[in-house]
Amino acid sequence: MKRVIFNQKGGVGKTSISCNLAAISASKGFKTLVIDLDIQGNSSEYLLGEQYRTLEDNAADFFKQKLSLFGKAKEAGDFIYQTEFENLFVMPSNPELAVIERELESRHKIYKLRDALNKLESEYEHIYIDTPPALNFYSRSALIAADTLVIPFDCDSFSKVALIGLLETVEEIREDHNPELGLDGIVVNQFQTQAKLPQQLIAEMIEEGLPVFDQYLSSSVKMKESRSQQTPLIYLAPSHKLTQQLCALHDSLGELMEARRAKSA
Ligand SMILES: Nc1ncnc2c1ncn2[C@@H]1O[C@H](COP(=O)(O)OP(=O)(O)O)[C@@H](O)[C@H]1O
Ligand SMILES: [Mg+2]
Repeated sequence: MKRVIFNQKGGVGKTSISCNLAAISASKGFKTLVIDLDIQGNSSEYLLGEQYRTLEDNAADFFKQKLSLFGKAKEAGDFIYQTEFENLFVMPSNPELAVIERELESRHKIYKLRDALNKLESEYEHIYIDTPPALNFYSRSALIAADTLVIPFDCDSFSKVALIGLLETVEEIREDHNPELGLDGIVVNQFQTQAKLPQQLIAEMIEEGLPVFDQYLSSSVKMKESRSQQTPLIYLAPSHKLTQQLCALHDSLGELMEARRAKSA
């Protein structure tokens, strides 16, 4: 199962949600891969520590070799590293992704990630793609490569406008490149129970027929702790409220995946 976590807005929880869902998959015994396509490398740092910066064969190298005509091509698996957590693997980011983006774009390499992931899928049962806060070559590659999309949402009224734009983009990508792309749903992150606006926004979205997960993710300092200690919540604080909400979200995604499989069988 290849899942992309995307919202062109920064700071909504893409990295926190993708890495924590991946860690939960891994802790349940699934061989799991996180692909970090954001030049900021936050997922790579969260799961591999600072040392990710020194890794030679990273996501940028994966794309770079798609530009060269000569030399023995490496397999996508050569750009993947094992984390210290069992079953959890990462294809790390690198700032060089920014340098090669234009050339990848102009030479029409948009399907390369999809081709690679289709091969890796036989080895990794769960693949999560963390994306940059922009609709660029990498996020589009991810939307083309993925089976389903999870959209983190931070309950602010500007975000709602952006969300409508995002759903239009997804529709376009579906039509032009990936008819099978499913929308798992919208994950409300950093939900504040006391505030009126978030509740109102969510009610509107549900009324408009948007698929909003019932598991809202609370705002908790544990997330920041987990990020700074480079330990996913399922290992740092397994019984914490936020961890349990993420586990419930993981279960819902699993049910959606089963339903999808049953439908296509
Ligand atoms: N549920 C949460 N509770 C508290 N802090 C959170 C939560 N989700 C994300 N954050 C914090 O918000 C910031 C942005 O989250 P991040 O996952 O990096 O977003 P994105 O990848 O979309 O830019 C990070 O500092 C992270 O620690
Ligand atoms: Mg991020």
